[in-house]
Amino acid sequence: MRKIFPSSVYNPVSFAGALLASISFGLILFLIMLEVFNDVHKPYIGILAFVILPVFLISGLIIIAFGIYREHKREKSGKYEKRKFPVINLNDKKHLAATMVFVVGSVLLLVFSAFGTFKAYEYTDSDEFCGTVCHTVMAPEYTAYLNSPHSRVGCVKCHIGDGAEWFVRAKVSGSYQFYSVLFNKYSRPIPTPIANLRPAQETCEQCHWPKHFYGEKKITLNYFIPDENNTKSSLTMLMRVGGGSNEHGISTGIHWHMNIDNEIFYVPTDETRQQINWMMSRNKVTGEEKVFRLKDDPGSLKTPDEKLWKKMDCMDCHNRPAHIYNEPGRMVNLQMEMGNISPSLPYIKSIAVQALETEYSTNEEAMKKIESFIKSFYFANYPEVSVKDSSKINFAIETIKKIYSRNYFPEMRVSWKYYPNHIGHLNYDGCFRCHDGKHETETGLVLSNDCNSCHVLLQQETPQKGNVISMSGVDYVHPGGIPVSLETQKCSDCHGVPIFKPGH
Ligand code: HEC
Ligand code: HEC
Ligand code: HEC
Ligand code: HEC
Ligand code: HEC
Ligand code: HEC
Repeated sequence: MRKIFPSSVYNPVSFAGALLASISFGLILFLIMLEVFNDVHKPYIGILAFVILPVFLISGLIIIAFGIYREHKREKSGKYEKRKFPVINLNDKKHLAATMVFVVGSVLLLVFSAFGTFKAYEYTDSDEFCGTVCHTVMAPEYTAYLNSPHSRVGCVKCHIGDGAEWFVRAKVSGSYQFYSVLFNKYSRPIPTPIANLRPAQETCEQCHWPKHFYGEKKITLNYFIPDENNTKSSLTMLMRVGGGSNEHGISTGIHWHMNIDNEIFYVPTDETRQQINWMMSRNKVTGEEKVFRLKDDPGSLKTPDEKLWKKMDCMDCHNRPAHIYNEPGRMVNLQMEMGNISPSLPYIKSIAVQALETEYSTNEEAMKKIESFIKSFYFANYPEVSVKDSSKINFAIETIKKIYSRNYFPEMRVSWKYYPNHIGHLNYDGCFRCHDGKHETETGLVLSNDCNSCHVLLQQETPQKGNVISMSGVDYVHPGGIPVSLETQKCSDCHGVPIFKPGH
């Protein structure tokens, strides 16, 4: 047999290394072929094909080199004896059996490793993988997702799309994410808005047809004011969702923004898109353009560079379709309404919110301290209630703990405070980033913040005014003891978080 390589290459160690390297290489090729010939692409395959398998490939190469080095040393030491391959005689029954075992074993090994790789390949695409493999990192997003209206829509449907460009982007960022988790390089919490999210046209619009007319949606909200009696207050409003095109329904209402006939461009002045001083609406049919500027900001008089314009889409309002971290007041109101936190416990609304809003460093610590805080409050201030209603108190504590575990993730520093939700205007500026009554055109047209333009306040019950009903909209009364001037104060000035305010 003629040898192409120097004799030191022919040794069992290098042979084993070569086997390992070629199997890994074969599997990498196999994965690449799968991706090329498969219509549905798997984003995290990069981890397998470009991170894990190459480790085996490189180890194989190192083993080859090590074998050569050892063999070379042996040759030099003089103790060298020419290696001979074993002679296999298939007429010998023992040799035949050994060869059969070897061949069948190798084939099985190959089949199983290909199958295993294929299974791993499938798994990298599952929501379970996305949500749990990087356990603590993605725990908040995964938990919120499972509780969202989109819990049956795969992570990859929104985050990674089809098409070559998204394919490459996903491979690169997928492998980077893997690296950052391995080496603990990720930020806590994961910053938002995320830069390479798929555009709404490609995601949301697959399922929510933009021309669809949504009409109006009735919302009823019950509130408990944080006083001793947890005084109840309520509000019913009709959201004017609207939308559609002229052919499918009246094209006004909130979804006017996404109407096929209109476009809105805006330029935020900060990364989180909380502060918007310049925006323009364009009617695609008539070509009419209106530029709205923040009155107080002389800088917004200049038209920003067109490269900075951001076209408003679904995600500018529905930015948390799958990962909603609720504000504590809202969750406690809801649980009190359902009776899981009994409204008969004095001050329960107030102290439940306080317990949830305290800073804890781990979930475990939170569970212990929430319990002791609530128990000691009643023990110290209402000893009778503490004994008589102990089962109500315990049930309330369990519910508050559940609210905490679902909405706060101290290990990742995630909560409602970090991720603004643009729907509404109570806890975040949301719609009031633009509709604050302070943005106007050169001709003095003000972008309206009339309380009955986006929704009609049909009914409100407050301790001050009792129950008021009107089809054309009631005058809003701020529940509780604090008088609020709707003209000069935004709800988020008091109900919001300072973090989002630019400059903080
Ligand atoms: C219905 C669409 C949708 C689905 C399904 C979805 N996401 Fe998201 N995700 C988004 C949007 C939109 C954002 C950006 C939020 C923003 O800009 O405020 C986001 C943001 C994120 C972020 C950045 C941090 C944050 O909370 O803003 C992570 C991490 C994330 N998603 C992981 C996941 C995982 C893991 C899954 C599956 C378990 C998943 N997503 C499913 C739409 C989705
Ligand atoms: C794979 C299909 C699919 C995709 C993609 C999708 N959705 Fe949905 N969406 C649904 C389904 C199903 C529901 C639930 C409808 C229901 O509960 O009546 C829903 C519900 C909603 C709701 C109503 C939520 C509520 O509280 O009732 C909103 C708002 C919404 N989606 C926005 C979005 C946005 C924004 C995106 C893009 C980031 C998106 N969806 C992507 C299928 C999808
Ligand atoms: C200007 C902000 C804004 C934009 C842009 C926007 N929406 Fe909405 N959308 C709303 C509001 C507000 C509601 C009322 C829902 C509520 O208050 O719960 C709503 C309701 C919905 C609903 C639920 C309707 C129902 O009857 O429950 C769906 C689905 C939806 N939007 C999808 C979309 C999609 C898809 C896009 C992008 C093509 C989009 N929206 C763009 C603000 C917006
Ligand atoms: C980026 C800035 C911006 C944000 C954020 C924004 N809007 Fe608007 N909105 C506009 C502009 C600009 C117009 C069009 C004014 C015009 O051309 O007359 C408009 C128009 C409207 C209209 C009137 C449409 C009609 O029937 O004529 C409604 C209703 C509306 N917005 C509701 C909302 C709601 C609800 C939200 C929050 C979920 C919201 N907007 C968030 C900029 C914004
Ligand atoms: C630009 C549109 C817009 C304008 C103007 C507007 N709202 Fe709203 N409002 C919304 C949206 C969107 C929501 C969120 C509905 C939801 O929770 O799904 C909301 C929610 C509310 C809520 C319920 C808050 C909660 O979650 O408990 C109250 C109360 C309210 N608005 C009062 C007012 C008052 C008072 C004014 C006048 C100063 C006003 N709104 C002006 C769009 C608007
Ligand atoms: C000047 C600060 C301030 C402003 C502005 C303000 N609030 Fe409040 N709000 C409070 C305080 C403080 C409470 C606690 C109750 C009390 O003692 O009055 C409260 C309580 C409430 C409650 C009942 C309790 C709860 O949390 O469920 C609702 C609902 C509410 N506010 C809605 C609004 C809305 C909607 C706006 C905007 C139109 C607004 N608030 C603007 C300070 C403010």
